[in-house]
Formats: sequence, structure tokens, C-alpha cells
Amino acid sequence: MRLLLPEQRQLDDLFDLYDSGTPCLRGGLVLSTDGAVAVDGGSRPLQGPADKAVFAALRAVCDAVVVGAGTARSEDYGPVRPAAPARAWREAHGRSPAPLVLVSRSLRLDPTARAFSGDVRPLVLTCAAATPPDGLREVAEIVVAGDDDVDLPAAVAALHERGLTRLLCEGGPGLLTDLVRAGLVDELCLTLAPLLVGAAPTLLTGPLAAPVRLELVHLVDGGDGSLLARYRLT
Ligand SMILES: NC(=O)c1ccc[n+]([C@@H]2O[C@H](COP(=O)([O-])OP(=O)(O)OC[C@H]3O[C@@H](n4cnc5c(N)ncnc54)[C@H](OP(=O)(O)O)[C@@H]3O)[C@@H](O)[C@H]2O)c1
Repeated sequence: MRLLLPEQRQLDDLFDLYDSGTPCLRGGLVLSTDGAVAVDGGSRPLQGPADKAVFAALRAVCDAVVVGAGTARSEDYGPVRPAAPARAWREAHGRSPAPLVLVSRSLRLDPTARAFSGDVRPLVLTCAAATPPDGLREVAEIVVAGDDDVDLPAAVAALHERGLTRLLCEGGPGLLTDLVRAGLVDELCLTLAPLLVGAAPTLLTGPLAAPVRLELVHLVDGGDGSLLARYRLT
């Protein structure tokens, strides 16, 4: 991998490169060069070695991994289990293990799903109108923010109250769009995979009230045909 921009910097360590200030909510996703985030319903065909490395780095430096329930269901999300280098980096930086945070309006969640099988208790952000299925309270902390829909600013504030201030949202596009619309996203870390897909879903699911300008923080040549771009939303 090679840092293309800014030109004067060396790429020493991917974890340090992606470590963020706090509080920070960033989206971390991989997309095809024509903007698709899935092929045949999953993101795996888009992921090359560089994306896997940046995915690990983004997780290594965050306090919590936030994901929409749709993605957790369709990709059979498991708990956050960093590999040895990420665990070592976290320990050296005094970061406790990051929980998985699911966002769900309906609470249509299976308590026996892999997402609830880890050592770190996951959180579920939902609204008062949703009824938890049997067994969910036993495997997750349910945080209610909003009455009929999830109040995303209140949900993010609830995470901050728990000391979770460096938030990584891994998608999907439904949740990411709502977070961008609510003005809650500080950064986007995008892997541009060298692939054309020609099909939805794309990064965002619908129009924004006005275009959001992005400032390029860095650009990395992934070495496998991909580009890793980190943007700040202004
Ligand atoms: N390329 C990538 O990096 C990447 C990353 C993630 C996902 N994906 C792909 O994206 C596709 C899934 O897209 P998607 O848009 O359905 O994903 P999603 O945003 O993860 O799922 C939508 C569901 O998440 C919950 N949700 C989302 N926004 C919410 C909000 N503001 N308030 C409350 N609940 C909210 C709702 O769950 P309930 O139905 O439980 O209420 C909603 O039905 C899959 O094909 C997946 O592979 C790709």
C-alpha cells in the first residue's frame, strides 16, 4: 500500500493512519467504481486484500461498530473479534473491546443470531414502539431512543453517554443515508473496488436535502487495484 495524498506523508501504520479524534462518527464501506455496495446481496465480492486491511484498521481504532439490522441479517453479522495486531494496538492505546451496536426500528432480530454470540454484550438501538422478541434482553442491552422511529441524534448521544464516542458505521446504505441526512456523519472511509456492477444498492438510498461537500483527508493506493479514500464531511 502507498499513500498517494497527502504527498509529504509516509504510510507507516494503517491503525495510526485511521485513528480519529473523538467524538467522531465515520462510515466505513466498500463500493464498486460505479457505486454499488453489494453484488448478489452481499459485499464480499467487492472486498480485496486492501479493503480487508482497512476494515480491520477501522475496527481497531473505534469504540463501537454500528450496523443497520438489515445488514446484520443479510450478512449474518458476527461479534467484533479483532485479530492479534488490532488487539495489541487497542491495548497499547487503552481501548476496551468494542461492542457491536445494531440499529433496528422493528426489533425483528433473532436472539440466537451470531451477532449476539460474542463476549462483549451488544447494544440494540431502537424506538419505544418496537417490542423485543423473547430472549433479546438476555443477550443484548436494548436502548430506546425515540417513540415511533429511532431518534438517531438521541441514539448517538446514548452511545456517547456510555463512553462510546469513536463510532464506526459499517452500513448499510439505509442506515448510512439516515445518518447523513441527520448531519451525524463526520467522515467517510471508502474503498473504491476495481469493479463495475451496474446494479443497486448504492452507497446512499435516496436524495439528500442538499449535496454534502467532502474534503479529502487521505488517499491510499491499495496495491490491488483499489483506492482507499478518507473524506471529512464539511
Ligand atoms: N459494501 C459495503 O461496505 C456494505 C456495508 C453494509 C451493507 N452492505 C449491503 O447493503 C445491503 C443492505 O442494505 P440496507 O440498506 O437494507 O441495510 P441497513 O441500513 O443495514 O438495513 C436496513 C434496516 O436497518 C434498520 N435501520 C436502518 N436505518 C434505520 C434507522 N434510521 N432507524 C431505525 N432502523 C434503521 C432497519 O431495521 P429493521 O428492519 O430491523 O427495523 C432497516 O430495515 C446488503 O446487500 C449488504 O450486503 C454493503
